Amino acid sequence: MDKNFPISGWGSLAVHGGHKKDPMYAHLVPIYASSTYEFDSAEQGMRRFAGQEQGYIYSRWGNPTITEAEEKIALLECFGLNMEAKGILHASGMAAITTLMLATLKPGDKILTHYSLYGGTNELLIRVLPELNISPVIVDLRDISKAEEVLKADASVKMLYLETPANPTIQCVDIEQLTQLAKQYNCIVACDNTFATPYLQQPFQYGVDFIIHSTTKFLNGHGTAIGGILLGKDIEFMKTKCTKVHRLLGANSNPFDAFMLIQGMKTLEVRMERHCHNAMEVASYLDTHPAVAKVNYTGLNHHPDQYIALKQMKHPGAMLSFELIGGLDAGIAFMNKLKMCVRTVSLGTCDSLLSHPASMTHAGVSKEEREKYGITDGLIRMNVGIENVQDIINDLEQALG
Ligand SMILES: Cc1ncc(COP(=O)(O)O)c(C=O)c1O
Repeated sequence: MDKNFPISGWGSLAVHGGHKKDPMYAHLVPIYASSTYEFDSAEQGMRRFAGQEQGYIYSRWGNPTITEAEEKIALLECFGLNMEAKGILHASGMAAITTLMLATLKPGDKILTHYSLYGGTNELLIRVLPELNISPVIVDLRDISKAEEVLKADASVKMLYLETPANPTIQCVDIEQLTQLAKQYNCIVACDNTFATPYLQQPFQYGVDFIIHSTTKFLNGHGTAIGGILLGKDIEFMKTKCTKVHRLLGANSNPFDAFMLIQGMKTLEVRMERHCHNAMEVASYLDTHPAVAKVNYTGLNHHPDQYIALKQMKHPGAMLSFELIGGLDAGIAFMNKLKMCVRTVSLGTCDSLLSHPASMTHAGVSKEEREKYGITDGLIRMNVGIENVQDIINDLEQALG
């Protein structure tokens, strides 16, 4: 594509964004399977190490396939916002979150966050970071006055960390209101945008400083690779401190996974449209089913966070959860009867995926603790896939029967 052609559509940017003409004229960026790069001369090597000349040196530091993925995602997160961001691709979403924490915080700092974070993030905050004297303050951030109370009372809170929508009850928090508040207290704001993707939600629009994705999910879209990205709007900080931490942690992605991610990203708009359409149909079907006590989906008018979701998201997303009336036994029996939808954890793939948190991901958490977070014994979490929706409903119908 001619680099001067003015792309006006999100989907076109998802297809072409970040791509550079290959010197060998390959249509797709090749998988640059090379750990290191040659220098034409010793002087060139010196200039590259000194940062006086652009160019790759060593693949833990950077790789052309990885660069294309980083640039594509950064362009999409900034689409229509008249701003730039830099992305650093990581080996996983957790690696991206770790780089963020180590690059921005120091001992004695605190992170203001909410209950319904991804389990791995929650564990990093409550078990690993406290050993470095960095600790979380966890409150219900749907109540803005609680956030303000914490920020007023404790000047050591240096970061506001959001994840919206979040597991497994599809809770949402107001990115705009919380970011405005945090900025009054000089807090950095980071937002995990994994569930929404940049197609449905652009946190930079609200002044957020950093965005994180587990690219393992909808961005890859096919469940073929683990990955994560950290994006920041302070380009200089991303190029210096974040790059340094990322390189020294050895948190780099690899060219094969980056290649899979690039190909997946090209269909993100069409996949998300279909995912969201199917999710709305499935949620409406489940909402009137006699075996189902409750459906958590922000497309349904009774979800308490619907107004926040509609404010900041294009559609309510592909994730929902529902509670079976029969509790644990009903949950296990339902999961065992599924015939097309897949029994597994994770999300973001074309296939519909279902998990039963009480017997799987949260089996090690006490019932009392689980219920505090809305993870009841009969709760099923669903990634609504892009199959024909009637087939998804037919499978659920026979499994619920
Ligand atoms: C919202 C969210 N953030 C972060 C992660 C961590 O990503 P990864 O598994 O790629 O390390 C996950 C994983 O499920 C997630 O769901």
